[in-house]
Amino acid sequence: MNKPLLKTALALVAATSLASWAMAQSTVTINPPAEGTVSVEQGLEAWSRIFEVTSHPRCSNCHAGEDGIPMWSGPSYGKTRAHGMNIQAGESRVGAETLPCSTCHTSSTLGNSVPHAPPKVDGTWLMAPAEANWFGQTSATICGQLKDPARNGNRTYLELAGHLDHDLILHWAWNPGGGREPAPYSLQDHVNDVLAWGVAGMPCPTN
Ligand code: HEC
Ligand code: HEC
Repeated sequence: MNKPLLKTALALVAATSLASWAMAQSTVTINPPAEGTVSVEQGLEAWSRIFEVTSHPRCSNCHAGEDGIPMWSGPSYGKTRAHGMNIQAGESRVGAETLPCSTCHTSSTLGNSVPHAPPKVDGTWLMAPAEANWFGQTSATICGQLKDPARNGNRTYLELAGHLDHDLILHWAWNPGGGREPAPYSLQDHVNDVLAWGVAGMPCPTN
């Protein structure tokens, strides 16, 4: 097969597997409560559910490692440990300096049934930025980071909620396959909580 043809074939395979995978997912509705209708107390309740999600292994295994080491934790792993095989995400957070994450975290038409590497779901499997390190952090620390535009990708709460829908990695976290426990609640519940927390003024617990 000549090069352009091969490229087209590869693109088709990638597009088809992503499309069929994405079609199986539902999209979420971004429908914030009206300003002034969510009390600080209700906002804090929403936050405590947000914390359950952000501290869950399906999120924190990637939102880890200022030192660039993703984690293997959660019931399917038995004990908590650093990613095997000396994986190092580096400054690039994609392992560009050593072994790219995409070497193993590839797209797969077998989707979530592949029991090893979770399928790469949107073209980029990489660690979250070092400032969004959630692994083992307290509720107050994660809350402070998420509300701080200087450390959350310069996003308002509406933009945070929108990001949750657009990022297919998040859809994966609620449908992870391979015997992995999904993140708690649902993606729509999580988005609703982020919106309620935002309308309440992004209140944070003290610990
Ligand atoms: C495969 C690794 C990976 C997993 C798993 C993952 N994230 Fe992320 N996350 C990232 C990367 C990379 C970014 C930076 C992308 C950006 O800012 O656009 C990010 C950014 C974010 C942001 C933007 C704000 C910020 O503080 O940087 C939010 C919110 C977020 N993730 C939520 C979650 C939640 C909730 C889960 C679990 C349900 C999760 N992520 C699981 C890699 C991951
Ligand atoms: C040599 C292959 C390989 C490379 C390269 C690799 N991974 Fe993995 N990764 C795996 C395998 C295999 C698993 C699943 C292990 C299991 O389920 O027992 C995994 C699991 C993970 C998990 C846990 C997902 C979960 O919640 O269950 C994260 C996070 C992760 N990898 C991040 C990364 C990042 C970030 C990079 C690049 C810096 C990377 N990996 C590079 C093979 C690899």
